[in-house]
Amino acid sequence: MSMPFVVTIDGPAGAGKSTVAKLLAQKLGVAFLDTGAMYRALTLKALRLGTDLEDPAALESLARATVIDVLFEPGGSLRVLLDEQDVSVDIRSQEVTNKTFYIARTPGVREVLVDWQKRMGRKVSLVGDGRDLGTVVFPDAAFKFFLDADFKVRCRRRADELRLKGLPVDEAGLEKDLMERDQHDLTRKVGPLKKADDALYIDSTGMSIDEVVNFIAARIDRQ
Ligand code: DC
Repeated sequence: MSMPFVVTIDGPAGAGKSTVAKLLAQKLGVAFLDTGAMYRALTLKALRLGTDLEDPAALESLARATVIDVLFEPGGSLRVLLDEQDVSVDIRSQEVTNKTFYIARTPGVREVLVDWQKRMGRKVSLVGDGRDLGTVVFPDAAFKFFLDADFKVRCRRRADELRLKGLPVDEAGLEKDLMERDQHDLTRKVGPLKKADDALYIDSTGMSIDEVVNFIAARIDRQ
């Protein structure tokens, strides 16, 4: 294909977006853009520097003075570089997960990150996952999907992920955290979690990851 094409997968936390987007990108032989990783990386930097998370101007300056690279390697692994330092593991900590909403709700920060994402979409074909890709970042994307699942199932998937990593699981705490993240995502004034009118809604509650990937790939093939 000569012109870059974009596939967007938006949806709430724990719906399986990143896993699906990564596998789909591999299947299509295009880049994978994990936009959540960018918000996480900036949060990590703010935490490390002790930047006031309640100060939008300080967060925007931080965003403008930071270089974040999200590199998808053909083998399937994702490397996230924060000012050239690999932070792929550190950005997945509980503290970063729970505090990213400060960064995500700051308009000046979103402007910087969205701009970077748009530029990437003009350069290469990609599958991106996030909250506002179909609505704000890539409104003209060739294919848009909104991936959802029942709240309880999303909680269970998160718990399974943690167990797989050998980490302890506090189920009640996990439910509370996910509920708060949903709330932050849905009520943010800029770039909230929202299905684009022309996105296809997929309820993955009773589906495996492979089923979702194949379903999306078939939709794309058909066009
Ligand atoms: O997809 P994730 O859980 O890694 O995203 C981390 C946080 O970043 C999430 O709480 C919401 C925010 N985010 C966002 O505001 N916009 C995006 N396009 C992607 C993520």
